[in-house]
Amino acid sequence: MSAMKNFVGWIDERFPLTKMWEEHLSKYYAPKNFNFWYFFGSLALMVLVIQIVTGIFLTMNYKPDATLAFGSVEYIMRDVNWGWLIRYMHSTGASAFFIVVYLHMFRGLIYGSYRKPRELIWIFGMFIYVALMAEAFMGYLLPWGQMSYWGAQVIISLFGAIPFGIGDVLSEWIRGDFVVSDATLNRFFAFHVIAVPIILLALVVLHIIALHEVGSNNPDGVEIKKNKGPDGIPLDGIPFHPYYTVKDIVGVVVFLIFFSAVIFFIPEMGGWFLEPDNFLPANPLKTPEHIVPLWYFTPFYAILRAVPSKFGGVVAMGAAIFVLFLLPWLDRARVKSIRYRGAIYKAALAIFVVSFIALGWLGTQPATPTLTNFARLFSILYFAFFLLMPVITRIDRTKPEPERVTH
Ligand code: HEM
Repeated sequence: MSAMKNFVGWIDERFPLTKMWEEHLSKYYAPKNFNFWYFFGSLALMVLVIQIVTGIFLTMNYKPDATLAFGSVEYIMRDVNWGWLIRYMHSTGASAFFIVVYLHMFRGLIYGSYRKPRELIWIFGMFIYVALMAEAFMGYLLPWGQMSYWGAQVIISLFGAIPFGIGDVLSEWIRGDFVVSDATLNRFFAFHVIAVPIILLALVVLHIIALHEVGSNNPDGVEIKKNKGPDGIPLDGIPFHPYYTVKDIVGVVVFLIFFSAVIFFIPEMGGWFLEPDNFLPANPLKTPEHIVPLWYFTPFYAILRAVPSKFGGVVAMGAAIFVLFLLPWLDRARVKSIRYRGAIYKAALAIFVVSFIALGWLGTQPATPTLTNFARLFSILYFAFFLLMPVITRIDRTKPEPERVTH
């Protein structure tokens, strides 16, 4: 033991190891009333690690070449030792990442975690979300299946809707060719395996630094730093380690049970995690009947298709994501947590959640006239939630927030 102490002492004289451990874990005081919703930050971290590690091993056998890519994925699935497991962990991990991140964002929404002084945590989070979408979109091209190819074709050609000749030049610049081709595959590979992961990691570090600067919010939305004991420690705070490290392990175990079940028994998830069309090699001469992105993009895809003009659709889709960045300034309520908000806000939030899920489903369906009208209705409701928020949160009759956290 004393050898260990000596070793840590040696390091501490040269690097702030113990100081960092204390600052971020053993003396980071987190509110004692964290609940279910607080599992998803640490789960997102874990999924990020899974994606990076499995990604490294996939890269060892994957070939970023339009003539070899599809075959190399099949090779990984059939001939590489444990290749099928690594690949299914990575493809399931992509969907798991979005499930975890959507639940993590929803937690922010219900407990007002984006409100002062946590605006920057939210903004960094939103940049993470955008980077994650870029990462998933570019990763999906790599297996060079039919949906990889045509999905990329549709999404990149959206930029073509930008007027004054800018659009066509821009989409050609992104593809590096007049159509999606080997050049596109090569650059998407470069972005997917190195550029975007670095950006993601950097953003996650900034996200957590910002969080530890102001301290975590909690299900009551009460600032625990307002009530400190004589020792300067928040009365409602407990050290992150060991209390929440142990609690988070429980979340990890439960998560891994579900994650393994999908990987071992239903890795395609009935076409929701891996689309049937992507088991066919990309064919630039044959368009699939329905080109549909994976589920995590479909709410925005539905908004895109709901607008009659192509350019208008692109703007609406961009706005649907951009408006989330503004959340900290749109919410004017006196309280943060849903627990103390009034009926109007609760109803608005419920309508928003239903609209988001409905849009997600509509985005997977062929755009018939009836479904398009539904997509229009839900798109309006989606935007109404944000645009009316400053008014709704002002007139909503909130309950008084307690002085201390409850549990
Ligand atoms: C790779 C993705 C992400 C990782 C690894 C991550 C990680 C974390 C961790 C570890 C925490 C602290 C534990 C917790 O509160 O659950 C946290 C808190 C938070 N995150 Fe994230 N996050 C990610 C994405 C996002 C996104 C996309 C948003 C929103 C747009 C977001 C918003 C927040 C907020 C507001 C908090 C503070 C919550 C509170 O104190 O109540 N995060 N994040």
